[in-house]
This record gives sequence, structure tokens and C-alpha cells, in this order.
Amino acid sequence: MTALPNQQQRVLSGMRPTGRLHLGHYHGVLKNWLRLQHEYECFFFVADWHALTTDYEQPLNIEESSWEMLIDWLAVGINPNTAKLFIQSRVPEHAELHLLLSMMTPLGWLERVPTYKDQQEKLKEKDLATYGFLGYPLLQAADILIYKATQVPVGEDQVAHIELSREVARRFNHLYGSEPDFADNAAAAVKKMGKKNAKLYNELRKRFQEKGDHEALETARALLESQQNITLGDRERLFGYLEGVSKVILPEPQPLLTPASKMPGLDGQKMSKSYNNTIGLREEPESVTHKLRTMPTDPARVRRSDPGDPEKCPVWKLHQVYSGDEVRAWVQQGCTSAGIGCLECKQPIIDAVLAEQAPIRERAEQFAANPNLVRSLVNEGCEVARDVARVTLEEVRQAMGLRSK
Ligand code: TRP
Ligand code: SF4
Repeated sequence: MTALPNQQQRVLSGMRPTGRLHLGHYHGVLKNWLRLQHEYECFFFVADWHALTTDYEQPLNIEESSWEMLIDWLAVGINPNTAKLFIQSRVPEHAELHLLLSMMTPLGWLERVPTYKDQQEKLKEKDLATYGFLGYPLLQAADILIYKATQVPVGEDQVAHIELSREVARRFNHLYGSEPDFADNAAAAVKKMGKKNAKLYNELRKRFQEKGDHEALETARALLESQQNITLGDRERLFGYLEGVSKVILPEPQPLLTPASKMPGLDGQKMSKSYNNTIGLREEPESVTHKLRTMPTDPARVRRSDPGDPEKCPVWKLHQVYSGDEVRAWVQQGCTSAGIGCLECKQPIIDAVLAEQAPIRERAEQFAANPNLVRSLVNEGCEVARDVARVTLEEVRQAMGLRSK
């Protein structure tokens, strides 16, 4: 059995609905999620509104793509009893938080997010000079902050969005995080840690505030992290109190960088739908076999009798994902001496890919045949997500003066 999930930390991540996933998604994102779901409380969601920021002109089957993707998540083993699975648009609180955050987010912050200009350049055929597209990272910040997620697993390309979320959280706390009786509440919270820890906390706080001792600040934060007996609200209060004035209403999330997937596409480039070089997660065996048998090899190896160079061959990259030392040595030796043919060389990969897919395909078929089950699993996830989101939003409304206690 795995250890209990870490209670103080919450992982949240989302994917835009792209329909059925491929092996690149599996070896990159999903295997990482599978690991995280045992270690943390996890929320995974379909970012269907985000799909509209770029595809508003032709919103092709966002609904259907969402369900196909959810089936793939379930089929690889994302466990809905452990991780909460939901759909963004089913938790409309995200939109209200996005609106409220938009009131205090400087335009320049959004214009400076690198993906804003990059994607406009890259997707030239689309008119992305829209309000929604500019707000993409702010909607993402709302997705994250509404769950008070502490860790957000993302690829390198998304790190700037997490950084924006942190800045927005900081600004929000600075602007709205003062409670009328903050100092009294904080002092009461300190006492709840017990005599010894309270004394230590006060000393560390003093050292930071009077001498700017950052080591003391870090130690005090670690002390707070380790406290089991204080409420979430008190913990946040004490984090704020450490640095001075305000209460932390929206904690700052950390990016959890997903290592880039080593899974190459059929042409040796990164596996991606836009390169048309993918193998579907639950693609039919005949089709997978055909794709692998016809995929390119070292172009210099024209005839069977020509020796080849694995370094120049996309098949070799697949061996690096799927084969052990022995098979790899066999490839190196057989290829460079023209001892084996390319089809022979591909066979262990074909076997390995089919073996990897078989249980996934089987589970996907079961879920696909039982849409009511999938719906009810996702409905439950949406309910849990909404409950969390409602609480945060109520705190946000209050802090911004929209509700009195
Ligand atoms: N922008 C992310 C992507 O393209 C998807 C996403 C939306 C997301 N909201 C999120 C990821 C919140 C993590 C957290 O991959
Ligand atoms: Fe590529 Fe294998 Fe053929 Fe060598 S033998 S060129 S590694 S497919």
C-alpha cells in the first residue's frame, strides 16, 4: 500500500479537450498523474472553456472530445475514488473568480505572458486578438486558485502561467487580505500550536521582521507546514502574519514540472496531433502494427544488405522507450552489420506497444460501453469540486466587500 496522501497539499491539473489521447500523452502527462494520485489529493479537469479561447470560430465537438478524453484518463488507471475528475464548465464558480480577479489584474501582466504573443504568431490563421484569449492565463489562475492548489503539474510551456497565478494571488492577498482583528486572530492561532512551537514561531517571526533574516522565514514556514493541529484558516493567517500584515486568502501555487516526454512520434519528431505522427492510446492493433511497419527508418539503409545507423533512425528512439539492454544491443549490432532487417528490428516494438495498449484498450471499451457510469463518476467529481470552489469563492466575495459576514 502507498502512504496516505499528503493532507496539506493539493495537486490540480487540467487538459484542454483534444479528443482521444495518444501515447505521447500517456508517457508524458498521464503516467505522471498516475504517480501523483497516490501521493497527493488530486483534482484533474477538462479545460473546456480554454478550448474556446482558440477555437471559438469552429467549436468542434468540445463535449464529445471531453468525454473521449475522460474515458482515456479512466482507462489508463486514473482512479476516480482517489482523484477528483471534473469538467471546468460544470463548475461555474471558475468564471466568477475569473471575473473578480480581472478587476485587479493589470493588463500589462497578461500582455507580457510569453504564450500570448507566441501563440498568436503560431496560430496565424486564427484571429486571437480577443478578450478571451488575452485572459487565457487568468482563467487558468482562477482554475488553480479556486481550489487553493499547492502544486500544479505542467509542462515547461505552462510555467509562465503558474507564475502569473502566483502574482495574482499575491496581489489579491495584499489588496484584500486584511482582517479587522487580524493581529488578535493571529495571536490566538499562534497559541494553538502549543507552547514550544508558539515560542519558536514568535522568535523566528521576530528575526525575520526585525533583521530581515530569510533563513528564519523559511524555518518558520517549514514549522507551519509540519503543524497537524491547526486549521487551514489559521495556517494561512500564520503564513501572512510571518511576513507582516495580511492573511493569505489565496495561497500561491507551485509549478510541478512534468519531465518532457521521451516518446517520439512515428517520424522521430515529438509525438503530436499536428505533426500527424501519433499512435492512439487505444488504437486498433492492426492499425498500430501497420503504422509501425511502415514508419521510416535510417534513410541511408535502402537495401537489406546496407548497414544502418540507429542514431539516424526514429525506430531506435522507440527502442529507447520500449526495449531493455539486451534488445538494444541486438539492434546496435544487427543494424550496423546489416545482420537484421528493419521489419525484424521493429517487431519487439510492435509487441511492446500492443502489450502496453491491450489493458488500456480493454478498459476504455468497458467505459465506452457504459456511458452512464462515466457520467456518474464525473458528476461526483464535479460535486466535490464545486463544494470546494464555493467555499473559496465565498471568502473571495467577502474579502472584496461583496458580502458581509
Ligand atoms: N493551459 C493548460 C494547457 O494548455 C490547460 C489548463 C487550463 C491548466 N487550466 C489549467 C493546467 C489549470 C493546469 C492548471 O495545458
Ligand atoms: Fe532503424 Fe532498426 Fe532498420 Fe537500423 S535496423 S535502420 S535501427 S529500423
